[in-house]
Amino acid sequence: MTVTIFMNMSADGFIAKNDDDVPFISDEEWDLYLQKVGKADALIVGRKTYELMKEAGDFEDLGNPRTVVMTNNESLKDEGNISFTHDTAASIVKALSTEGYKNIFVTGGAVTNSYFLKEKCVDSVVICISPYILGAGILFSADKDAEQQMTLAKHSVLDNGAILLEYNVKK
Ligand SMILES: NC(=O)c1ccc[n+]([C@@H]2O[C@H](COP(=O)([O-])OP(=O)(O)OC[C@H]3O[C@@H](n4cnc5c(N)ncnc54)[C@H](OP(=O)(O)O)[C@@H]3O)[C@@H](O)[C@H]2O)c1
Repeated sequence: MTVTIFMNMSADGFIAKNDDDVPFISDEEWDLYLQKVGKADALIVGRKTYELMKEAGDFEDLGNPRTVVMTNNESLKDEGNISFTHDTAASIVKALSTEGYKNIFVTGGAVTNSYFLKEKCVDSVVICISPYILGAGILFSADKDAEQQMTLAKHSVLDNGAILLEYNVKK
């Protein structure tokens, strides 16, 4: 079983503007996101990212995969393939593994990424860096304790100059 964080990022290290806009993600980069994340058999997202993805119709574009949403709001009710939890990152991964899921993607946002990194639950990190300076916004991770050493496994350049970096996390 592998747990992969996949994020699109501006060249200056932000995953979104403070108003949640992501103008740096080109159509080509979005197609790559759908291609890569579409291969996941389960997704884990934070509640804020869940709401943004739901509103944009992203779950349909990804084939409505099994999705776990992290939240402290106990009034949110499971619905179809989507469940809500305030379990730890390690417990979520263990539960998905018991359910038989092998290729698990964490797709943000910053708060959620930091929980998975802090709990050492991440095997690989994929970052698509856009040729775009955002100036200010939301960083990849929301916590200084999410520090993690990695090794570069693969890299490639998209036609628009975005760079895809695929890392293995050092255990
Ligand atoms: N560039 C990219 O690839 C990319 C990808 C995804 C998201 N984004 C951007 O990231 C931003 C959202 O990131 P964010 O960091 O603000 O929010 P987030 O991680 O998406 O969601 C945060 C919320 O998730 C819940 N949560 C997270 N960890 C939890 C834990 N350990 N236990 C219980 N609940 C937990 C809490 O929900 P409750 O408040 O309900 O308790 C928390 O308020 C948006 O702007 C979005 O556009 C960018």
